[in-house]
Amino acid sequence: MIEILNPTELARARETGALVAEILQTLRSRSTVGTNLLEIDAWAREMITAAGAQSCYVDYAPSFGRGPFGHYICTSVNDAVLHGLPHDYALADGDLLTLDLAVSLGGVVADSAVSVVVGGSAPAGAEALIGATERALAAGIAAAGPDVRLGDVSHAIGSVLGEAGYAINTEFGGHGVGSTMHQDPHVANTGRPGRGYRLRPGLLLALEPWIMADTAELVTDADGWTLRSATGCLTAHSEHTIAITDDGAEVLTLPRRPQA
Ligand code: MF3
Ligand code: CO
Repeated sequence: MIEILNPTELARARETGALVAEILQTLRSRSTVGTNLLEIDAWAREMITAAGAQSCYVDYAPSFGRGPFGHYICTSVNDAVLHGLPHDYALADGDLLTLDLAVSLGGVVADSAVSVVVGGSAPAGAEALIGATERALAAGIAAAGPDVRLGDVSHAIGSVLGEAGYAINTEFGGHGVGSTMHQDPHVANTGRPGRGYRLRPGLLLALEPWIMADTAELVTDADGWTLRSATGCLTAHSEHTIAITDDGAEVLTLPRRPQA
């Protein structure tokens, strides 16, 4: 089902989006050499609880995972790209960390992810990989608006990823957002212009380009959740939740004011 939010719900979505952005920004700044993924998860839990919000992950048990996720944030390191299950691991200098967070506040969800390099020495290709997902996300946002077709957004995302030289995996992509995290429509990270669902004001979409350096093939970790590149290569993922408005698209998962 595709949900279209009314103005009251959209105002709530802005609150949720700002909260997700603030939590991600705080967690990103705390993710330094030696930080344990389980500490990041505990901080996420504290901040979600303190804000009176609910985790979209902790009890989530979709077909693509093993049982309830049981944690508050996805932490995916290096070759891990999606649904990284937090575990007892201390971040090392040069690790490529993706934080992916979705919460519900006032009955409306927002979902966002960011990839960063931990410490001072980025491994070869890391910045290019992260840059490609960020540019693809920006292109998808720029393409989105009322009466635009979903295929136009997917095509904008896929063109940037493809031109940067990466093969695109079509098993996982973006999605509608609303009273729950994963809703219709599915937003593929590649598509044909002029095709698909016609976007309408009040629709929330999570756009989430993700990429693996030298493969499009995923493997599932022994934990039943974490998805890694089949070749062990580096990966990156960038995600924002946007609202389709009367004259374009509004990014909901940006911090309200710059933080240190
Ligand atoms: N937030 C992720 C996404 O971008 C989904 C995580 S599902 C979980 O769609 F179960 F792994 F948490
Ligand atoms: Co998402």
